[in-house]
Amino acid sequence: MDDVIIRRMTADDIDGVYAIERATFSRPWTRQDFVREMTVNACARYLVAEENGTILGFAGAWIVLDEAHVTNIAVTEARRGQGIGHRLTAALMQYAANLGVAYTTLEVRRSNTAAQKLYQSLHFEYVGVRKKYYEDNGEDALLYCCQHMPAPDPDFTEEETVYEPE
Ligand SMILES: CC(C)(COP(=O)(O)OP(=O)(O)OC[C@H]1O[C@@H](n2cnc3c(N)ncnc32)[C@H](O)[C@@H]1OP(=O)(O)O)[C@@H](O)C(=O)NCCC(=O)NCCS
Repeated sequence: MDDVIIRRMTADDIDGVYAIERATFSRPWTRQDFVREMTVNACARYLVAEENGTILGFAGAWIVLDEAHVTNIAVTEARRGQGIGHRLTAALMQYAANLGVAYTTLEVRRSNTAAQKLYQSLHFEYVGVRKKYYEDNGEDALLYCCQHMPAPDPDFTEEETVYEPE
């Protein structure tokens, strides 16, 4: 666990992230979705958990004005329950706070109690329901919001791009 680092995702991480996405979700994003996030979506910010060159998990958000909306969080199945999801989510919120974000929102399946516990441990609060939000099984989404953002890091800077054209 000591070797697991959290850092900004780049285009070079897309294959590792996409492999976790496909193994995790019933309706995974396409590889091209992640390419778009790394190239043209100026609102997107993604972090990865990496251990000795292997991607173990990722978390991303769209940042619009003072809101961060979490799009996607997943940890590779064999490494769940080791605190990686917590670290990724906390780091994503720190990153968002550094960019001036005042609150973070997300949707989570009603049945996904593991994720809900993770969010509650980071002071997210349930604020509402989106009925039958998930098209694959008609499940409701619970809407969570966190206004307890970390203090911005005064030394924060960010790379202008995470994509190097070939
Ligand atoms: C949700 C997910 C990202 C959590 O990542 P993780 O690395 O396993 O989580 P952590 O080990 O950091 O655990 C953080 C907290 O989440 C809760 N939690 C995690 N796994 C849990 C489980 N199987 N059952 C109940 N609570 C769980 C606990 O409250 C835990 O805190 P604790 O360790 O103090 O008890 C991971 O389970 C995952 O990838 N799930 C599939 C994808 C997914 O559901 N993404 C979220 C979509 S909204």
